[in-house]
Amino acid sequence: MPEEPKPAALPDTPEEMSRRQFFVKVGVGSVAVAVLGTAAFSYEYLSPNVLYEPSPIVDAGKPDHYPPDSVTLDPATAIYVVRTAEGFFALSAICTHLGCMTAYKPDLGIIACPCHGSKFNKDGVKIAGPAPRPLPWLRMWLSDDGNLMVDRSNAVAIKQLVRV
Ligand code: FES
Repeated sequence: MPEEPKPAALPDTPEEMSRRQFFVKVGVGSVAVAVLGTAAFSYEYLSPNVLYEPSPIVDAGKPDHYPPDSVTLDPATAIYVVRTAEGFFALSAICTHLGCMTAYKPDLGIIACPCHGSKFNKDGVKIAGPAPRPLPWLRMWLSDDGNLMVDRSNAVAIKQLVRV
């Protein structure tokens, strides 16, 4: 009696079964990778395009921290706190030529830019070099607890002194 042929779609051996399972797993894995990739790109696309920068408001501390007739640079915030006999004011330490950080030279009494030689007096007025503008004055005020506060994003056109 002749043996009946088995259907071609059914596996003959456990080895063929494992091959089928392998290809099914590869297929499922490929779909999973495609879904995850699409989800990641969708999340990137839908998330807001925002730069999280530190606040422009700087707490410069107590006025007593600054000696009389001094120019103090805070390199972390790029501001000078200047104390004169009349009061306090704040200057940006960023050179108006190409944006280098300036430095105060106490022996010369000037603010100097190391990049291309611009020089400014203690009021930020340019006295030499290629800088097109003076160093900007920044808005300064006293907080309720008596600290000097500076808004780096807010340049003021006129000399605004904080009297303590
Ligand atoms: S960046 Fe200051 S002089 Fe050029």
